[in-house]
Amino acid sequence: MDVQARTAPATAAAPRDRGAMGDLDHDGLVRAQRETMATPRRRYGIAARLLFALLDTIYGRPRTLSKFKVLELVARVPYQSWEQVAYIAITHTYERTGLARRIYDRVGESRAQQDNEQWHLLMLEERILREGPREAWFRFRVIPQALAFAYYQLSWLLYVVRPAWSYRLNADFEDHAEHEYMALVAEHPEWEEEPFESVFAADYAELASLADLFRQIAFDERVHKEESLARMAEPRFR
Ligand SMILES: [Fe+2]
Ligand SMILES: [Fe+2]
Repeated sequence: MDVQARTAPATAAAPRDRGAMGDLDHDGLVRAQRETMATPRRRYGIAARLLFALLDTIYGRPRTLSKFKVLELVARVPYQSWEQVAYIAITHTYERTGLARRIYDRVGESRAQQDNEQWHLLMLEERILREGPREAWFRFRVIPQALAFAYYQLSWLLYVVRPAWSYRLNADFEDHAEHEYMALVAEHPEWEEEPFESVFAADYAELASLADLFRQIAFDERVHKEESLARMAEPRFR
């Protein structure tokens, strides 16, 4: 595939954002999976551990696409909360144009990550609609929205009080997602032979197989984690 095809938006309304997350070829994705499997998980904080335990209780421990979809619904909200706080910050600081500009750049970063999570969500939903079982309305519509709402409030509050706390929670969440997706791929060797076909391929990435799709998603989660860890180490805006 040529570079133009990889970077051109599929539609005017949905610009492609994959590039920011880093596309890997098949060998790179397999290497990334080995790295993740060989890397211990982070020592998760209390909030993250509670959330993962809650998800296991409601959706069971087996890795199902429906459970991953719930993860993706929740995964977007920290980025939304940071974006909202950043806009409020710009409202209060726009007279200091240099600072406002730096905050705005951060908004752009949050939005790119949020969009990336959005593609994950849409591709999971596409696959579930194609093959998956019917999902119970309350468990897979109402509860995820309640979880996402509560998680938004928590991310927002932590970010207002101390941004590093919110970034740490997100790093835990992304680390968990990275490991879970790579483990999912390992559980499904038949996906190595299954072609990746999606109406979102032009927006997201052209990949050789379903296994590579989930490896790429896992790698995105690693990038999200590393970005949050980098932000944790930074001082507040000045
Ligand atoms: Fe994701
Ligand atoms: Fe993520």
